[in-house]
Amino acid sequence: MNQIINIQKSSVIEDLLKKSEDVLKQNWRNGFTVPSSNLYPFQWLWDSGFIAMGWSFVDMEKARQELNTLFDAQWSNGFLPHIIFHDDNAEKQYFPGADFQGAYTHPFAPKHVKTSGITQPPVLGFVLEYLFEKEEKITQYRDFYINAVEAIYKFHQYLYQNRDPHNEGLVYIRHNWESGTDNSAAWDSIWQTYTPPTYDVQRKDTAHVNQAQRPTKKDYNYYLHLIEQSKNCAYDEQKMYETLPFLVQDPLFNSLLVASNKSLARMAVELNLPHIAEQCSIWSDKTGQAINTKLYDDELGLYGYYDLKNERFISIATAMGFSPLFAGIVSQQRAIRLLKIIESDAFMGSESSVCLCPSLAINHQEFDPKRYWRGPVWLNINWLLYKGFDSYGFKGIARTIKNDSIRLVEENGFFEYFNPISDTNEVNGYGGQNFSWTAAIILDMLN
Ligand code: DGY
Repeated sequence: MNQIINIQKSSVIEDLLKKSEDVLKQNWRNGFTVPSSNLYPFQWLWDSGFIAMGWSFVDMEKARQELNTLFDAQWSNGFLPHIIFHDDNAEKQYFPGADFQGAYTHPFAPKHVKTSGITQPPVLGFVLEYLFEKEEKITQYRDFYINAVEAIYKFHQYLYQNRDPHNEGLVYIRHNWESGTDNSAAWDSIWQTYTPPTYDVQRKDTAHVNQAQRPTKKDYNYYLHLIEQSKNCAYDEQKMYETLPFLVQDPLFNSLLVASNKSLARMAVELNLPHIAEQCSIWSDKTGQAINTKLYDDELGLYGYYDLKNERFISIATAMGFSPLFAGIVSQQRAIRLLKIIESDAFMGSESSVCLCPSLAINHQEFDPKRYWRGPVWLNINWLLYKGFDSYGFKGIARTIKNDSIRLVEENGFFEYFNPISDTNEVNGYGGQNFSWTAAIILDMLN
């Protein structure tokens, strides 16, 4: 009997692995991978990071190429853009495209390819180390790793030089899209501080995905207005700092920066780049301490956000509030509290059918199980939490997060995000289909 169950289990795993590979192969476009063919037809920064990890199980050369294509679009000041608009023809499919974003004429921007003027969470340091550790012939690819470490180091340097005005060790984001968690309820109190114009534009995302699963029309007014204001500042960092109503010290962004700094420091030692090793260790210590001092919410027992523009803390229970675990900067005492919180009704509900980890606590008044970052489960966040809890020795919860992730994909398919409260009568996956980072995370979890 046990043998039959094991055979069935292994054929399910084989099937999922094969499908994950197929998703990456379908979305590969000669040097990079689109997140999802209709909805996101270009290259996105943090998507490519997770995707490169996935490629490392299938084709190491493509994993390296995925990152090289990002570095090829790096601005001369070190900035890495969140979108690289590789394909002019795909402009019809996506809004806001390169012209609306109006960043590619910036004097620091590359001339050979159009990019956006906002960034995304700094995942590349730990992604590179993930590849580095799997590389069989490190000497053969030494130049690639040296160049990559230097490019990512330059990006971090840009962040600390331009996004940390009080020299606190915490960098700010200046657009909600920079958080990667676009319509998080964390921003609601910021939207209340100003009124954007109403944009009468043709959104393309809602042509591909049900409007109920995407940010609202009203939300888009805020997003587009921030882009317009940035454009009016000609994407000049100082002017944007003085003008934009959205300047946030985000726990996920800063935690991933710490994790990436630590990875860069370790690789720099091996690659004999002592100045990078030293600087990245200084940065990771400083940012780690600042996260613990300024972004820890003692009342909730989770990490939160700081609204730098309005000088106030944003207290909210999101999945991203657990992300400092991934950076390894949480004390054992706080980690135990984080464990209790993820195991509480706020994230697990009182019924066993809730899958970890809802992006917003399910008892929050704004919780919406279908709307993008206001409730659904995202596999990249799950991967960070699974690794984070695991590294603190909390094996049980790590296993639950991993098993829930696999189950959601097995039952629904390779969606962009998932309903944490499964309804057996419908598909519980939403957004883009055949989503690349979902496939990449499954490859990691099943391998
Ligand atoms: C989108 O288009 O939804 C992206 O997240 C913004 O880059």
